[in-house]
Amino acid sequence: MAERWAPDSWRKRPIVQVPDYPDAQVLADTEKQIATFPPLVFAGEARNLKKALAKVAAGDAFLLQGGDCAESFAEHGANNIRDFFRMFLQMAVVLTYAAASPVVKVGRIAGQFAKPRSSPTEKRDGKELPSYRGDIVNDFAFTEAARRPDPRRQIEAYRQSAATLNLLRAFAQGGYANLGSVRQWMLGFVKDSPQSRRYVELSDRISEALGFMQACGLDLESHPELRTTDFYTSHEALLLGFEEAMTRIDSTSGDWYATSGHMIWIGDRTRQLDHAHVEFARGIKNPIGLKCGPSLKTDDLLKLIDILNPDNEPGRLTLIGRFGAEKVGEHLPALVRAVKRAGKAVVWSCDPMHGNTITSANGYKTRPFDLILKEVRAFFEVHAAEGSYAGGVHLEMTGQNVTECTGGARAITDADLNDRYHTVCDPRLNAEQAIDLAFLLAELLKKERSGQVKPMPAAAGL
Ligand code: TRP
Ligand code: MN
Repeated sequence: MAERWAPDSWRKRPIVQVPDYPDAQVLADTEKQIATFPPLVFAGEARNLKKALAKVAAGDAFLLQGGDCAESFAEHGANNIRDFFRMFLQMAVVLTYAAASPVVKVGRIAGQFAKPRSSPTEKRDGKELPSYRGDIVNDFAFTEAARRPDPRRQIEAYRQSAATLNLLRAFAQGGYANLGSVRQWMLGFVKDSPQSRRYVELSDRISEALGFMQACGLDLESHPELRTTDFYTSHEALLLGFEEAMTRIDSTSGDWYATSGHMIWIGDRTRQLDHAHVEFARGIKNPIGLKCGPSLKTDDLLKLIDILNPDNEPGRLTLIGRFGAEKVGEHLPALVRAVKRAGKAVVWSCDPMHGNTITSANGYKTRPFDLILKEVRAFFEVHAAEGSYAGGVHLEMTGQNVTECTGGARAITDADLNDRYHTVCDPRLNAEQAIDLAFLLAELLKKERSGQVKPMPAAAGL
């Protein structure tokens, strides 16, 4: 790809999944205004994430990525963000401790607003309106006014992302993530569940270990890594006008960075080789993700890798498979083999959500927890068989006690979905299901990494 890249070079390419804005002038004015706003993230942070992901690519760490399917303006409260973060920390600490693996923490948050849709319009009772494309584009309510794409919503999405990111940074760096608080991260409604016993036991062992190290003379206060954590943000870079406005030159390196989030990804519906979304992503230096579904051909994947990561830089590209529990065994092995044979450094991650969506008997869009677990297990099995590294997961989850996915420890049934089904988009794991999944992941990861663990030199210094 010798062709010149610029933040707006995507505009000359074919594009799908674009909103039909009624007023091009208002759109252009809004994008111009957003281009003057401060960046949400700093290029140096994106580079740090890329370094962390390079460790994942090398098999030395694990990627935990997750959050809402879509953030919403209505649910933007401090409690929501805090509960999400607590749940994320619990999952991360389960993986870090039980699998003795560093965990790269990436939220699907602070910018995850735009949604691709299977149809441009939605019909209800004979009435046809534009589909809901996420709060950054239009409103969920089924009226003509609400569904009309409004560019000014991009400013609200920017504002919400900035406020969310500000709180997340404070939590991650300001003391909330202190390992000494491992017990306090438990959420009220999870505390009463039988499943919580496992987490309490694990947190006791961590507290014990910290106490032991202190008794050995280690000054815990002088180790900020015990008190803070690096938390990164990510979203699907779907709304390219907004992304272009947030793309800036980094003065220290002279390179272009998307400053709307640390990592962005390309969706399974917008990964056509010669289309706009691939064109945009190839020119920015952030770590990027590529969703890989059952229709992705091996040849096309290799071409995409060459376009998106021509220098084969580890940490630059994360391939996020979303095949479905029944299809992963059929599709993933050939892709893994081809990438391995071509010598490409990538992170392999598993999205066990999007290929396992079904409609319940009572008409809810749901995901059976069992199928999610099944896809995750198959993902690890395929990588073990191919001699490749299962490097991470990509999940849709919330810290709230919702009933959107069936199954799990409390055996949510189709009939229960009606109780607390709050998503405006895809069904998410609730906190209990997510932590349950983290324990399973820890087991699988521990097995994957066994034999890789480097023990302390036995007689050193004695
Ligand atoms: N800084 C380390 C890390 O992020 C250890 C750590 C501190 C941690 N707080 C945490 C790990 C919370 C998981 C969750 O890995
Ligand atoms: Mn989704």
